[in-house]
Amino acid sequence: MSATRYLPEDRGLESLETAADRCRGCPLYADATQTVFGHGPPGAALMLVGEQPGDQEDRAGLPFVGPAGRLLARALDEAGIDPALTYQTNAVKHFKFTRKGGKRRIHQKPSRTEVVACRPWLIAEIEAVRPRVIVCLGATAAQSLLGAAFRVSTQRGRVVELPSAVDVRLTPEPVVVPTVHPSSVLRDRSAGHDAAYRSFVDDLCGARDAYE
Ligand code: URA
Repeated sequence: MSATRYLPEDRGLESLETAADRCRGCPLYADATQTVFGHGPPGAALMLVGEQPGDQEDRAGLPFVGPAGRLLARALDEAGIDPALTYQTNAVKHFKFTRKGGKRRIHQKPSRTEVVACRPWLIAEIEAVRPRVIVCLGATAAQSLLGAAFRVSTQRGRVVELPSAVDVRLTPEPVVVPTVHPSSVLRDRSAGHDAAYRSFVDDLCGARDAYE
């Protein structure tokens, strides 16, 4: 299971996006509405990688347009980063879900096999965008680029290098700043919500400092 054979020869963002529309590298294409490719200016200094499109992203065909995306945009803004100048994408390009009560689509975490199968698209996006810093939002994105043993809980906010096993052909290579997923901040309705949001903004400030 891999997306590799669906990658086009021309590795510009537009041809990648067109080719990704036809990807059958894992079974997730079958139930999703469409491939949700990354979005943002080529040459963006900051790339943000989420887990997978949610229900709204699957319908819109764009990443981070739902509630998690709105929290992300607010946090970026507070960190002094213009969201429109970032490239936003996901580790997995199709929405994985189960149906509840016939209609409602409930997000399902992608398997490690699906994440690895989709990784060639993410690597190709990194090579096409040439970001200075990649922020991994949550464990799925962090483990896609930093390995299955990577723990966001203990390493969040640090500036880490891409492991040599991830073959990104760029000089200099971008660095990675792992942090939590914005939906974990959204879901936190405890007394710690504000602190969780502040820590998320702090991690984004750290990412900004790494390319400014
Ligand atoms: N969550 C993600 O990880 N990505 C999106 O695009 C939206 C929600």
